[in-house]
Amino acid sequence: MNQTSDRTNPRESHLESASEMLSAATLLPSLFVPSRSTRLTAKTGSTAEARGGSRKNVSSKGPEFTRKRRKLSLTVAGVFLLIGVTFAQKKDSCVDCHSQMEGVLGEPARLMKDDIHRVRGLSCADCHGGDPAVGDPGGAMNRAKGFIGRPKPRDIPAFCGKCHSNAEFVKKFNPALRVDQEQSYYTSVHGKLLRGGDSNVATCASCHGHHGVRAITDPLSRVYALNVAETCGKCHGDAEYMKSYKIPHDQYDKYKLSVHAKALYEKQDLSAPTCNDCHGNHGASPPGIASVANVCGQCHVRQAELFQASPHKPVFDSMQVGECKQCHSNHDIRPPGDDMIGVGPGSACTSCHVQGDNGYEAAGHIRRSMDEVLARMSSAVAVLGRAERAGMDVSRPRFNLNEAKDGLTHARVLVHSASVEQVDKVVQPALAIADRSRQAGEVALSELVFRRKGLGVSLFFILFLAALIYLKIRQVESRQKPEEASH
Ligand code: HEC
Ligand code: HEC
Ligand code: HEC
Ligand code: HEC
Ligand code: HEC
Ligand code: HEC
Ligand code: HEC
Ligand code: HEC
Ligand code: HEC
Repeated sequence: MNQTSDRTNPRESHLESASEMLSAATLLPSLFVPSRSTRLTAKTGSTAEARGGSRKNVSSKGPEFTRKRRKLSLTVAGVFLLIGVTFAQKKDSCVDCHSQMEGVLGEPARLMKDDIHRVRGLSCADCHGGDPAVGDPGGAMNRAKGFIGRPKPRDIPAFCGKCHSNAEFVKKFNPALRVDQEQSYYTSVHGKLLRGGDSNVATCASCHGHHGVRAITDPLSRVYALNVAETCGKCHGDAEYMKSYKIPHDQYDKYKLSVHAKALYEKQDLSAPTCNDCHGNHGASPPGIASVANVCGQCHVRQAELFQASPHKPVFDSMQVGECKQCHSNHDIRPPGDDMIGVGPGSACTSCHVQGDNGYEAAGHIRRSMDEVLARMSSAVAVLGRAERAGMDVSRPRFNLNEAKDGLTHARVLVHSASVEQVDKVVQPALAIADRSRQAGEVALSELVFRRKGLGVSLFFILFLAALIYLKIRQVESRQKPEEASH
């Protein structure tokens, strides 16, 4: 540790010069642009705009004028920024020389363009040591002057940690940034194996990259939610790479098929978990058998609570089966369905429970009552449908049927209590609602029959009366005819 802090001092003084250069670069345009913009319009936001800042004060003189003005101030700013950067680069012999080189020696200079460290004013020597003020390679990359060169994998955590574990240093840049990455890294399986001399495991640079490290919120970062699985999968999904280890290499392939990956990639639902949500970022380890429910329970709170309170919690732990994983798996989680409950094919219960034991009975009972709700709901839907097609208003009982549906959804959550009583508490009301809705449909239909009968009777009477009138008219007419003849 002492060694590290000794090494930090000369570099820190260099850091200051790096930040000074950056602030000089950003200051330059702001010294000149205001005078230009005051000539164009008073109080415009062009300085801020040129630096990518606020766009609130857009001129009221029309878009054409604003565009011209913005273009002009951007050009001015661009010119000075370029000068500023060149100034900064003048002093940075590392960038100067390496950017002239081909291949792996030139690549770092090109990749650093978008690196968060570069953006914050740091440069090659802040990580690698050496003296960027000296032009000749022997002087610049002088190991006696603290040049580290290319760190070996096992030295990388300390290499990155010399800044990232230094709270005082990090707070100067970003007070909210954590400083425990190196420390928690050594609690992970990766960290422990690295200490033991295994350099195949992930180090800081395997997950974040080393040149071109991005802020974690940058969608192009290797550890951005949508990219994490691929980053981990590069090793964990590579059979060749993992062949000397006893663990499977199917996590990435399985994860890609899971409900979670579907939610994350297809629905762009960033609340769905990827590898690090279940394993941690730096302390990456598989959760212990008895803590899987806690991992899943970060998001599936209700299911985890019910499971923890169920008779299954203590017995699963003592049987050494992984809580939620036993029924849902961990990487290959598929959409669950009612076939998972009960005693038929696809049941998650019959791997342990056999005919005659309480769990078996419970599984059968719960499934039968859920099926019963479904059956009664569909019979209600059929009756209500007929009534509706006949023109009766059944919107209310149809709406009430939603409550039965909600009851069924609730029952699917309560399955995790492994308690018939708890499930029955929502199933019974759901059955009653389904029945009431069907009855309402039947009432509507019998009203319809009654109305039809009524209509038939009145039609009969009308026809009967019409016939009587017709006969009467005929009678009157035939009586009049002989009278006319006698005249
Ligand atoms: C005038 C050119 C020149 C300058 C200036 C220069 N380098 Fe190099 N650098 C090289 C060459 C050539 C190599 C490859 C040969 C070697 O390893 O010495 C190299 C190699 C490296 C390596 C890889 C070493 C390894 O162990 O594989 C690193 C890291 C590095 N330079 C960083 C720096 C840093 C940081 C600075 C500024 C303090 C710097 N360089 C300045 C030319 C230069
Ligand atoms: C954030 C710290 C950091 C900064 C800044 C940085 N490097 Fe590196 N560099 C590393 C690490 C870590 C490695 C070793 C990566 C590995 O072996 O996996 C490395 C490796 C290298 C190598 C060996 C070839 C390679 O790509 O693995 C060279 C050359 C190099 N750096 C030069 C530079 C130059 C030139 C700059 C500035 C333009 C620079 N580095 C900036 C961390 C950094
Ligand atoms: C196994 C992959 C992995 C390794 C190894 C790793 N990181 Fe990370 N790192 C991540 C992930 C994933 C995130 C978080 C992304 C998120 O929260 O969205 C992260 C976040 C960070 C952050 C942002 C602040 C934070 O803690 O959330 C820093 C800084 C960081 N890592 C530095 C390091 C350093 C330094 C090391 C080495 C000691 C290291 N990382 C090792 C995967 C890794
Ligand atoms: C010279 C000091 C220094 C070294 C060495 C260093 N970093 Fe950084 N790193 C910083 C600073 C400063 C920031 C910017 C923090 C900020 O403003 O958010 C940063 C930011 C980061 C971030 C982005 C955090 C975020 O806010 O999203 C990651 C990831 C990161 N560094 C990883 C690494 C890795 C990996 C290494 C080793 C290869 C490394 N750093 C070495 C100083 C350093
Ligand atoms: C550079 C390759 C590499 C990368 C990248 C990587 N790992 Fe690993 N990981 C390994 C190796 C090698 C092991 C050791 C295998 C073993 O435990 O026997 C390991 C072990 C693990 C273990 C412990 C497995 C066990 O039961 O022993 C977990 C969990 C893990 N990695 C998760 C992750 C996660 C999550 C990520 C991404 C955030 C990741 N790894 C990225 C190489 C990598
Ligand atoms: C929804 C949570 C979750 C996600 C997402 C997840 N894992 Fe896991 N993973 C687990 C659990 C739980 C275990 C432990 C299983 C056990 O102990 O029986 C585990 C075990 C592992 C292991 C140990 C070996 C094994 O297969 O049992 C590795 C390695 C691993 N996961 C890597 C990954 C990688 C890589 C990803 C991303 C592609 C990932 N995991 C995504 C929950 C998850
Ligand atoms: C970071 C939050 C998070 C973690 C951790 C998590 N999940 Fe999920 N889970 C979700 C999200 C989000 C969905 C997707 C909901 C949707 O869009 O269908 C989901 C979906 C599911 C589904 C399908 C639900 C359905 O109705 O189709 C199951 C089953 C599931 N997760 C089980 C687990 C298990 C088991 C674990 C632990 C090994 C776990 N989840 C860990 C957030 C999480
Ligand atoms: C004993 C087996 C079993 C265990 C253990 C188990 N589940 Fe389930 N889970 C089921 C069954 C069965 C269903 C499906 C119910 C249905 O659709 O009829 C289900 C459904 C789900 C669903 C989606 C349906 C919903 O609305 O609830 C999620 C999410 C879920 N489980 C999460 C978890 C989590 C988290 C754990 C661990 C705390 C867990 N499960 C443990 C059997 C189990
Ligand atoms: C990993 C094995 C395993 C699985 C899978 C499993 N159980 Fe259990 N279950 C047990 C054990 C062991 C007990 C406690 C001993 C006993 O009473 O049989 C238990 C107890 C129960 C009990 C309490 C019995 C009592 O005597 O009060 C119920 C109810 C139950 N399980 C229902 C279910 C249902 C429903 C499923 C499927 C969704 C299921 N179990 C899946 C192992 C399992």
